[in-house]
Amino acid sequence: MLKVIVCDKLSEEGIKILQDAGFSVDCKYKTPPEELKKIIGEYHGAIVRSDTKFTRDIIEHAHNLKVIGRAGVGLDNVDIEAATKKGIIAMNSPGGNTISTCEHTFAMMLARARSIPAAQASLKQKLWDRSKFKGVELYSKVLGIVGLGRIGKEMAKRAIAFGMSVHVYDPFISEEAAEKIGVKLVSLEELLKCADFVTVHTPLTEETKHLISAKQLALMKPKAFLINCARGEIIDEEALYNALKEKKIAGAALDVYSKEPPVDFKLIELDNVVATPHLAASTEEAQLNVAIEIAQCVKDALLGKAIRNAANYVQLDPETYKMIQPYFALCEKMGKFISQLINGGAKAIKIFYLGEISAYKVDVLSAAFVKGFLSLSMEQDINYINALEIAKDRGIKIEQISRREEEEYVSSVRVVVTTDKEERTLEGTLFANKEARFVMMDGVHIEVAPSEHLLVINNWDKPGVIGFLGTTLGSNKINIAGMSLGRKTPKDIALTIFNLDNPLNEKVIKEISSNRDIVSLKSVRL
Ligand code: NAD
Ligand code: MLT
Repeated sequence: MLKVIVCDKLSEEGIKILQDAGFSVDCKYKTPPEELKKIIGEYHGAIVRSDTKFTRDIIEHAHNLKVIGRAGVGLDNVDIEAATKKGIIAMNSPGGNTISTCEHTFAMMLARARSIPAAQASLKQKLWDRSKFKGVELYSKVLGIVGLGRIGKEMAKRAIAFGMSVHVYDPFISEEAAEKIGVKLVSLEELLKCADFVTVHTPLTEETKHLISAKQLALMKPKAFLINCARGEIIDEEALYNALKEKKIAGAALDVYSKEPPVDFKLIELDNVVATPHLAASTEEAQLNVAIEIAQCVKDALLGKAIRNAANYVQLDPETYKMIQPYFALCEKMGKFISQLINGGAKAIKIFYLGEISAYKVDVLSAAFVKGFLSLSMEQDINYINALEIAKDRGIKIEQISRREEEEYVSSVRVVVTTDKEERTLEGTLFANKEARFVMMDGVHIEVAPSEHLLVINNWDKPGVIGFLGTTLGSNKINIAGMSLGRKTPKDIALTIFNLDNPLNEKVIKEISSNRDIVSLKSVRL
């Protein structure tokens, strides 16, 4: 029975989806890392929010884990590189908490602009201080949005409805896309200089860590406010503390912190800071949405039905999937086949996609080839998620080339493997889009069905050699199911490939190799 561990609080509806699918579900909230490391090996699926960190150390102990699902957007608490190497899918549930997060950000902006939390605290102390809490309007002000994704866009809509003009910094958004929603695309520098409110909505990545630091804060207007409901580390908290303390900017509203819960509260304690404890997505609606979405995604991934919202797996649209799906097995078999023929350590692999298939996104087929190629040489479980990473780790350079014009077949895949001793080539195609065939090897045309047992021979192109091979196999009770032979020029070294019904043993191999016209022989198993 497949087992799923739910590490952080998840709505019941999500848990029910997993149980109804027949999984055994353990809710083990707030499990300390050392304990999680000990038990994670039992599980096939894991679900987290932001409290549990799936570090490299924990992932290395996750021997059966197939998928880590994040109930929410930010996957920064999962070491995706480590998960990829281990062949574990890391997926999130985007969209389900967009509105809640946006509404909270907007509430934070208003709360800070009108000093609502401080005014309430004062009133609750029975003080009636109206002059102390004079605020500012949002109307006609400039909102600077850093990161125009799902949440950023919702912020833009609401800000426009409030009569604000919206300036955006997002290097991945085109001017046309920005214009369509009525916002102006500017540089980060321009945005910081002109905005009255700056709100951050990027993911936390190496590029966005400390995106707003002392230099950027120095560009902001003294009356400007900074809002962060994305991730704490996007802002350099020490620099923000100094800017607020020295009144270089007017105030900040924060929902997220570099350490959660924070260890140092000096930033939160400042009078000009409004703060909440990572609450932006904490609404009934958002938690229900993300729980249902992630439970369904994890369920489908574990049952092998579909992989959605994965950060380390290529998502295929239905048309691409239909086109390339039959090539998965061919590519994997080509990898396994050629890995048993090469001499020397592989240094580089070029994978050519020729003809119609060249128009499609084929990275996953390259992963399938590499999976086959490495499968016999490694104990580690290799799958489509980690194959390319493992090849990179082993110093094998993988290059993928798509060429429409070369059309000997409607579509074909050609690989060139370079080792420290030689270069070998293999080409495969699908006849009638379903029958896998190897059609060229090392420049020689062949037609070989990739069956379980194959015998690959280089022999001198002389009369009697094929007869010798047939007799030797027959007298050893090895049935020949198919044969393909070819040569570049007559009387040269020819290539002969047999499909056999049973495997070769050492005795037969010796017997065949002893013939002087046999140049090389390899028994291959697919
Ligand atoms: P999204 O992926 O839809 O949008 C992110 C946007 O950031 C994209 O448009 C991307 O192009 C842009 N971006 C990436 N790198 C950038 C850079 N260097 N500079 C400027 N823009 C950049 O994500 P989303 O759903 O809008 O969520 C954004 C983030 O908010 C999440 O990654 C998550 O960390 C955080 N979040 C926090 C809460 C919370 O409870 N506080 C809830 C949901 C999401
Ligand atoms: C997210 O990235 O979705 C948020 O941090 C939501 C959360 O888990 O609270």
